[in-house]
Amino acid sequence: MKIIMLGAPGAGKGTQAKKIAEKYEIPHISTGDIFRANIKNNTELGKKAKAYMDQGLLVPDELTLELIMDRFEQPDCKNGYVLDGFPRTIPQAEALTKALSENSEKIDFAVNVEVPDESIVERMSGRRACLNCGGTYHIIFNPSKKEGICDKCSSELVLREDDKPETVSKRLKVYHDQTQPLIDYYRGQNVLREVDGTKEVSEVFDGIINILEA
Ligand code: AP5
Ligand code: MG
Repeated sequence: MKIIMLGAPGAGKGTQAKKIAEKYEIPHISTGDIFRANIKNNTELGKKAKAYMDQGLLVPDELTLELIMDRFEQPDCKNGYVLDGFPRTIPQAEALTKALSENSEKIDFAVNVEVPDESIVERMSGRRACLNCGGTYHIIFNPSKKEGICDKCSSELVLREDDKPETVSKRLKVYHDQTQPLIDYYRGQNVLREVDGTKEVSEVFDGIINILEA
């Protein structure tokens, strides 16, 4: 199964993608997590990506596409994947459609997690992220068992650099300008499905499972 998670920054794409990946035993591929791991390890890619990410801007398509196409070559992708944060622009979506169609493949579902902008800033300021395994928590809505420590890999949790309120507003603007058009793009491919992302994490997940198993 090949699934794309769509939605604004902070809509819960990563939270839900992790749960989908566990249930269906497919990899969770988050371009944001891959960039953050590169920044943490101070790689060339990380240095390039950081300059954009810290400002709330998108990393250029060329860099992102190179990275994701390499990732698709990994053997764990053979039974599908859940994409989180990719594609994020029309050119990225077109490149993905083209790469898949060359192997007579296609996306099964693009799940749009809908959350109004007003709720986003509150979610971001309380988010805590694991830079090691990509785990995502919220100090109130989805706390880790031990404060500041990842449940899965015991690494330290951090507040992301780009979760400051002023950067969040910029990311929301970039989302509306560059990423929201993908909703119509995937509607046109008849794979768009929508879920109400304002409900509790487990209810949102149940909604997604209903979609995937309909
Ligand atoms: P990325 O890491 O993808 O960030 P994003 O899209 O801004 O999304 P977030 O990870 O912030 O939010 P999310 O939807 O995953 O929400 P989460 O589950 O964490 O990208 C970061 C940057 O990398 C971009 O700005 C860009 O620069 C670059 N980048 C990445 N991909 C790129 C690409 N393809 N092209 C170009 N550049 C790219 O949830 C948020 C919070 O809410 C958490 O605290 C969570 O616990 C909580 N929460 C989740 N669900 C609920 C719920 N139902 N109720 C209450 N709280 C909830
Ligand atoms: Mg995320």
